[in-house]
Amino acid sequence: MGIYTKRESLIQALLPFRKNKRIGFVPTMGALHSGHLSLVKTALEANDCVVVSIFVNPTQFDNTGDLDKYPRTLEVDVDLLNTLQGKVFVFAPEASVLYNDHVVAKTYRFGSIANEMEGKHRQGHFDGVGTVLNILFRIVQPDAAYFGEKDYQQLQIVKKLVQIEKLPVQIVGCPIVRENNGLAMSSRNKRLTKAQFEAAGLISKTLFEAKERFKKQSIDQINQWVSEQFNDSSVLSLEYFEIANAETLKTVERRRSGNKYRAFIAAFAGDVRLIDNIALN
Ligand code: PAF
Repeated sequence: MGIYTKRESLIQALLPFRKNKRIGFVPTMGALHSGHLSLVKTALEANDCVVVSIFVNPTQFDNTGDLDKYPRTLEVDVDLLNTLQGKVFVFAPEASVLYNDHVVAKTYRFGSIANEMEGKHRQGHFDGVGTVLNILFRIVQPDAAYFGEKDYQQLQIVKKLVQIEKLPVQIVGCPIVRENNGLAMSSRNKRLTKAQFEAAGLISKTLFEAKERFKKQSIDQINQWVSEQFNDSSVLSLEYFEIANAETLKTVERRRSGNKYRAFIAAFAGDVRLIDNIALN
């Protein structure tokens, strides 16, 4: 497995894979967990090699505390990737390599999907994600790129980004991987205390139960029930729970037959922000 920190050396290493071979890409911010590894495994099954980028992207953080505390574990990440069978290239550049000393996000017109939920609560977040992915896609030039459905809104944004930037890459969404207590795997979980980790099982438990309730209750009743669950928790505080149209991501108050819906949650355990979502129908 090769580890690359410069654009040119990665581009050079990928040359043998440009003709009649497929390049898969898994962009990450490191602190890898089984969720990331399952993305890399899926990518390895469908491609001749896979590039895993490890870069904590400053332009997608609206909170410098969150950026500073984001776990950075490059050596452990590389060891984990080494356990996989297949050709993996790690790309772990400095910010100056990607941004040429101009660490600023582009402004994108992703449309209304960018204004809901994460877009509303994390100002500029999706511009930062779009900016770094546009740079990375142009360096790696993958045939397909793999994203976890935990960040479902991000997945929709990435699909829009490749249209806007006219990038010839297939975007593949992959199922959420969960801890034993149901908590969606996330690099941020590493920052939870044992008590917070245990309490955070409530997030997915609430989503699974909301899916059951969706069969027989109104959206209003479900929203009310979810608030009560979090009011009862001394560890977690709910930032939002929304039932939204799975395509437009617009919050809905009443369902219409024929539409697909998802429930989305963001909650804090101390200063650790956790998100999750589920398909309701
Ligand atoms: O999902 C993430 O880890 C990041 O948002 C991504 C896609 C690697 C862009 O920095």
